[in-house]
Amino acid sequence: MKYIVFILLSVCLANAQIKKEQLDLMPWPQSINVMDGTFALSKKFKVNITGNPHSRIFIGATNFIRRLDNRTGLFLEQNFVTKVNEVPDAELQINCTTGGKIEINQDESYELVVTTNKITINAANDLGALHGLQTLLQLLQNNSTSYYFPNSKVIDAPRFTWRGLMIDAARHFQPIDVIKRNLDAMASMKMNVFHWHLADDQGWRIEVKKLPKLTDLGSNGSFYSQEQIKDVVKYASDRGIQVIPEIDIPGHASAILAAYPEIGSKVDNEKGSYVVQTNSGIYNSALDPTNPETYSILAMIFDEVCPLFPSNYFHIGGDENNGKEWAANPKIQEFMRKNKLADKHDLQTYFNMKLIPMLQKHNKKLMGWEEIMTENMSKDAIIHAWRGTNEGLKPGESLIQAAKKGYNSVLSNGFYIDLMLSIETHYLNDPLSKNAALSPQEKSRILGGEAAMWSELVTPLTIDSRIWPRTAAIAERLWSNESIKDMNSLRKRLKTISFRLEELGITHIRNKEVILRNIANNQNTSAVHDFSNICEPLKNYKRNGGGKKYRMHSPLTLFADACNSDASDAFDFKVAVTNYLENKNKENQVILTSFFRKWIMMNSDLMDLSINAPLVQPFLPLSKSLNDLSEKLLLVFDKNKTLDKDEFKVLLEQAAVRSDADVELAVLNDVKRLIESKL
Ligand code: ACM
Repeated sequence: MKYIVFILLSVCLANAQIKKEQLDLMPWPQSINVMDGTFALSKKFKVNITGNPHSRIFIGATNFIRRLDNRTGLFLEQNFVTKVNEVPDAELQINCTTGGKIEINQDESYELVVTTNKITINAANDLGALHGLQTLLQLLQNNSTSYYFPNSKVIDAPRFTWRGLMIDAARHFQPIDVIKRNLDAMASMKMNVFHWHLADDQGWRIEVKKLPKLTDLGSNGSFYSQEQIKDVVKYASDRGIQVIPEIDIPGHASAILAAYPEIGSKVDNEKGSYVVQTNSGIYNSALDPTNPETYSILAMIFDEVCPLFPSNYFHIGGDENNGKEWAANPKIQEFMRKNKLADKHDLQTYFNMKLIPMLQKHNKKLMGWEEIMTENMSKDAIIHAWRGTNEGLKPGESLIQAAKKGYNSVLSNGFYIDLMLSIETHYLNDPLSKNAALSPQEKSRILGGEAAMWSELVTPLTIDSRIWPRTAAIAERLWSNESIKDMNSLRKRLKTISFRLEELGITHIRNKEVILRNIANNQNTSAVHDFSNICEPLKNYKRNGGGKKYRMHSPLTLFADACNSDASDAFDFKVAVTNYLENKNKENQVILTSFFRKWIMMNSDLMDLSINAPLVQPFLPLSKSLNDLSEKLLLVFDKNKTLDKDEFKVLLEQAAVRSDADVELAVLNDVKRLIESKL
C-alpha cells in the first residue's frame, strides 16, 4: 500500500504543473512561460545541430551532454557532437543561423521551446545557442525516480553586452585550472568577458620571449607561458567568452621595474631599488613617460602579448599612479615644463596617447581604469569606472560622467567582490538605473559591468568562494531586465545555482571544509562550521588594514578565509528576529531562543576543540562574547528576568571588539535590534 502511494505521489509530482517562480533560473530570462506537460529525459536523449554555426557549438553541446549525464547518472548514449546534422531525429534540435564572433555587441539572443516530445533552441548564432543550453540545464527537474524538463518557452537576450569578471593573477597567482573552472562558471551565468589582470606591483605573470627578465625577475617563478595563454583564450572562446588582458601601467609597475629598472622614474642612482612587492598597497613606482626606451620595451611587450588575445580591447590599467616619482625627478619635471604638461595628469595623458597607436597597430582599442579619463584623452578609449563612495564620489558617478563625455564605459564600482560586501549590495547596483539623467545616445555608451576579484587576500584555495555565488547575482544584474530585483527570489534561486556551480569544479563549498578541518586539527568540525555561518570577514579592506598584516606569501587558511559575506545562519537569525518582533507568539520565541541555546553549546564545543587546536584560539573571545549575550538573553526570555540596559550595553560592546580573527559577528545587529525592542 505504502509503495502504491509512493508511486502515485511520484507520478503526481512529475506531472504537477510547475510555476515559473519555482524554477531556479539565473540570470532570469527576459520571458518565460511554463506550459502543461513535461519532456522526460531518458538515456536515448540526443542533440542535433543545424545551420551554420561556429564549431564552438559542438564543444558546447558535448559539454551539455556530459553535465546532464553526470548530474543524472543516466549513461546517455550520445558521446560527442562533432558536426551539423549528425542525428537528424534527435530530441533536442539546435539551430544557429550563423557563426558568432567573440566580440561585444553580438546577437546573443535565443529561443528555447520544450514540448513533450521535442526541445528546440533557435539562435542567430552559436553564442545565443550556448546560452540556451545553459538555461535548459537549469530547467532540469526531478521527482523521486526520474528527470524531466517542464514544457516551456523561453525568449531571452542580454540587457548589457559587457558582462565581465576580472581576476587579478598578479597579487596571488592563479593557476590555469582556477581560471578554466571560473570560465566554465562564467559561461553558466551567461557572462562573456574575462578580464585578466596580468601585471602589478606584486608580480609580472606573462611570458614575453624577447624580454625574459620580466618573468625571471618579476614573477617569483609564477607566470603563464604563451602556450598556456593561448590555451585559456581558446577555452574561453569555446564558451563564448572574450579575454581581455591587462598590463597595468604607468603605475603599479614595481614588477616590470624590478626587471627593467632603466625605464623607471626614480632618479638614476635610485633605480636599483625597484623590487617585486610582497605587501598589498599602493606604491610610487611608475614607468618614465619621458624616456624613449620605455616605449621600445612596451612595443616589444605589445608585439608579443597582443597577438595572443584576439579581443579588440587591451586594458592598460592606468589607475592609482600617485605621481611621486615623477615629481621627484628633475629630468621628468624639465620635460613637463618643455612640453607644457601642467601636472601628473597631463603627463599621464601624454603617456596614454602614445600607447593608442601602438595598440592600434594590433587592432586593439585602449581600455583603462577611470583615471585615464583626462581632458585630452581620446574618445576611443574605454573607461572602466571603479571609484565611488570610498573615494568621495557618488556610486557610479564616473560611469555617468564618462558616458556624458562621449566614452564607452564599463562599471566595476559596486562590483568589487573583494570588499566582502553583501550580495544585496552588488545585486542592486545597476549600471543604468531608471533615473540616470542620460540621453539615449549616452545610455548606449554604458556597455555593462565587471565583477572585480582583486587577489591580495585570496589564493587558489579560497578565490572561488569570494567570486561565487555573489558573481551570479552580478551576472543577473547585467543580463536580466532591470525590474528583476527581488531579494527573496534571488536568495531562493541561488541555493540551487550555488550548489550547481560545484558541477563545474567551483570549490567554494568544499574548500570551506578543507580550511575548517585544518583549523580544527582533524577533530569534529561542526562547531567551527556553525560559528563560520554567523561570522563574516571584515569588510571594506579592514581585514588587511594598511596592507601590512598579510603579505603575498602569508597563510590564507585562517578562520576568516573559511567565513564569507552573507553568513547563512546570520540571515536565518535575522528572519527569526523579524518574525518575533512582528508576532511575539510562543512559536516565534522558541525559534528565536533555539539560536541562543545553539550558540551556548557551540561555545562550549569550541572551547573543548581548542585544547588541541591552536588555530581556534583567535576566535574564542568572539564566541565567548556571543555566549555571554545568549545566556543573558535566555534569562530574559525563559526566566522573565528584566533586561538590564547597561549590562547589555557592555556585552554588546564586547562582542563588537575587532577580533584577532579578522571576522565580525554577523548576528550582532539583529541581537541589538532585539535588545532595543525589549527595552
Ligand atoms: C583599482 O581598484 N585600483 C582599479
